[in-house]
Amino acid sequence: MTKNSQYSDHERILTGVRPTGPLHLGHYVGALENWLDLQPKYDCFFLIADYQVSDHADDFDRVRKSVFDVALDWLSIGLDPEQSHFVIESAVPEHAELTTWLSWWTPLGMLQRNPTLKAELTEIENQSAKRSAPLAFFNYPMMQVSNILMPKAHLVPTGEDQQPHIEMSREIARKFNNITGRELFPEPQGLIGRVGRLVGIDGQAKMSKSLNNAIFLGDSQEDVLKKVRKMYTDPNRIHATDPGRVEGNPVFIYHDAFNPNTNEVDDLKERYRAGTVGDVEVKTLLADAINRFLEPSREKRHEYESKPNLVREALEAGSNHARKIAQETMRDVRDALGINYFKD
Ligand code: TRP
Repeated sequence: MTKNSQYSDHERILTGVRPTGPLHLGHYVGALENWLDLQPKYDCFFLIADYQVSDHADDFDRVRKSVFDVALDWLSIGLDPEQSHFVIESAVPEHAELTTWLSWWTPLGMLQRNPTLKAELTEIENQSAKRSAPLAFFNYPMMQVSNILMPKAHLVPTGEDQQPHIEMSREIARKFNNITGRELFPEPQGLIGRVGRLVGIDGQAKMSKSLNNAIFLGDSQEDVLKKVRKMYTDPNRIHATDPGRVEGNPVFIYHDAFNPNTNEVDDLKERYRAGTVGDVEVKTLLADAINRFLEPSREKRHEYESKPNLVREALEAGSNHARKIAQETMRDVRDALGINYFKD
């Protein structure tokens, strides 16, 4: 730790999302819930990774809007800029510099083996056979490593798919420390939420905006009801009197995740298995539970929507603070590499 670091004895969190649109229930149970829990205990940096959306290079208006949408979602669920730092990645251009240095010690093979990157690459190529991913895409896990190492974070609470990137951060931190002989970067730990990967309302393995199978944190009561009514259930159950399957059934996965009334859920499961409850009842109670779950954030959202300056100020203050910390880290990095050319 640097001696002038303000938080030298306080453990840090850095985590983030890409600004690709509003956040959904999958983000909540995969990560955000942990962030809320950890916010009072750690010095938290919550980052909006706008250097990492090269898949939206044709639509900067949308990137800009998404940055504010994400911040609004955060404020609505109770992340608190008085306690934590909301950071826009590109407002701290030191991330780009650290990425350049760290890429010296990152073999290409490390990226080629990264399972999350591989899966996303296949997705990009499937969108259009002719489309080849931009260089920036291959660089994004490297950027993410820089995001994590920049404030010397100890803990990175995220969804399951981010684990390979955290592993890469550990490897690179270790290498950098070894090569420079300084314990500059702690090796960060990952932390997955209680549902590491939430199925989509269509039963696909992952809830995602781009798959059009998400319930957003900002959805209205009516949106939630409509989406839940459309939800995929047990495909082999045609009539309410057919015995149904509860395991792996999205409607029950969601009941388990969002309905705190376990008696009600157990009762529904029992009757579903026995073929004595209709989908309409199961789904209506699920929509009610999700709406109760989202209700407190709806009020806060209205408040912040009417005061957009507060959202902007949160982002500006957090980014300025993060930049100061980043400048300290970059001084340490240059010292460690012996490239402070103009220093005596
Ligand atoms: N790649 C992450 C995602 O797609 C977002 C992200 C960017 C991130 N930088 C980060 C997550 C640093 C954790 C830590 O969701």
